[in-house]
Amino acid sequence: MSRGTRAVIDLLALQHNCALVRRHAPFSRVLAVVKADAYGSGLVQVAQALPDADGFGVATFDEAMALRSAGITQPILLMEGVLSPAELQGAAQQRLDIVVHQEWQLEWLRTTTLAAPLVVWLKVDTGMHRLGLPADKVVQAWQSLQGLSQVSEIRLMSHLACADEQDHPLNAQQRESFAILMQKTGATTASFANSAAILRGADFHYQWVRPGLMLYGASPLLETSAAELELRPVMQLEASVIAKSVVPAGATVGYGATWRARRDTPLAVVAIGYGDGYPRHVSRDAYVLIAGKRCPLVGRVSMDMLTVDISAVPDVAINAPVVLWGNGLPVEQVAAWAGTVNYELLCQVTDRVQRVYKAG
Ligand SMILES: Cc1ncc(COP(=O)(O)O)c(C=O)c1O
Repeated sequence: MSRGTRAVIDLLALQHNCALVRRHAPFSRVLAVVKADAYGSGLVQVAQALPDADGFGVATFDEAMALRSAGITQPILLMEGVLSPAELQGAAQQRLDIVVHQEWQLEWLRTTTLAAPLVVWLKVDTGMHRLGLPADKVVQAWQSLQGLSQVSEIRLMSHLACADEQDHPLNAQQRESFAILMQKTGATTASFANSAAILRGADFHYQWVRPGLMLYGASPLLETSAAELELRPVMQLEASVIAKSVVPAGATVGYGATWRARRDTPLAVVAIGYGDGYPRHVSRDAYVLIAGKRCPLVGRVSMDMLTVDISAVPDVAINAPVVLWGNGLPVEQVAAWAGTVNYELLCQVTDRVQRVYKAG
């Protein structure tokens, strides 16, 4: 019997969120970012549920191969580019688009014979200082790509460092630098916007947008909730009650005896812990939902279990479902309790948590 610990993946919510991306960026194509197992929601299942996506963005060659093996035919972009000449040849065989962000990737393109020419996204550094050619190298790189028979089309891309912060000065600076590089290269196809930038307005959109987080129904903006953005959560993390007790006033609960009952307190043990990806460190405000009621965590989260105060629902049954995040409890909230971001929580749900797909 399963212990009831599962991530319910709502594919209709995913489609709704993708449609919302199109509403915000009606003139752009959508490259759905599905790296890291589609932010924990399942790489292939998510891609298959988005037949209208104009392409998919992945981080690794293996992720791209998994999509091709599953029969995904849309363009797939290797967002970190290829890491060896062999991968470059594989990319050509599998019809993958590649990012070029380093001189040596250009060199491989120049010197490797390919099965077919590739679409190349030249990634430029506009201020994030992670991946991308520096501004003064871009025009030369663009021109050398133009001369290569291994390249079927060249596009320009960059990535924003602080799009989640509305007034961060880097947003305008990066946008300005990108516009200048568009002009200097003469690029006609470009991509700049992740989820947060999609929501920051048309100035960031260009011909392709690259939504990740917002597809999964989590808010990419620091100042606005997912509900306010009309996003619907895709992943609901659930577990079951596996034990109940009443701890007497004065008794402590869990490892380290960090929580002490002030009064006789009804408790439930829930079958989920940090071995499943629920964060071990959460603030004292953290709660779960049982029958829609808030039940505060008490004591430390352990590997397979956590304990909650069920004063709000003392009659809850063994095996009753518990919501750790999802509808009514945004993953952003749990991330705030844990001192991290929604991205990390979605990605770190471990393999032993069964993914259950809901399409209706
Ligand atoms: C290059 C690139 N584009 C787009 C995305 C999607 O970002 P987000 O999940 O914030 O929409 C990512 C994710 O990190 C990325 O690395």
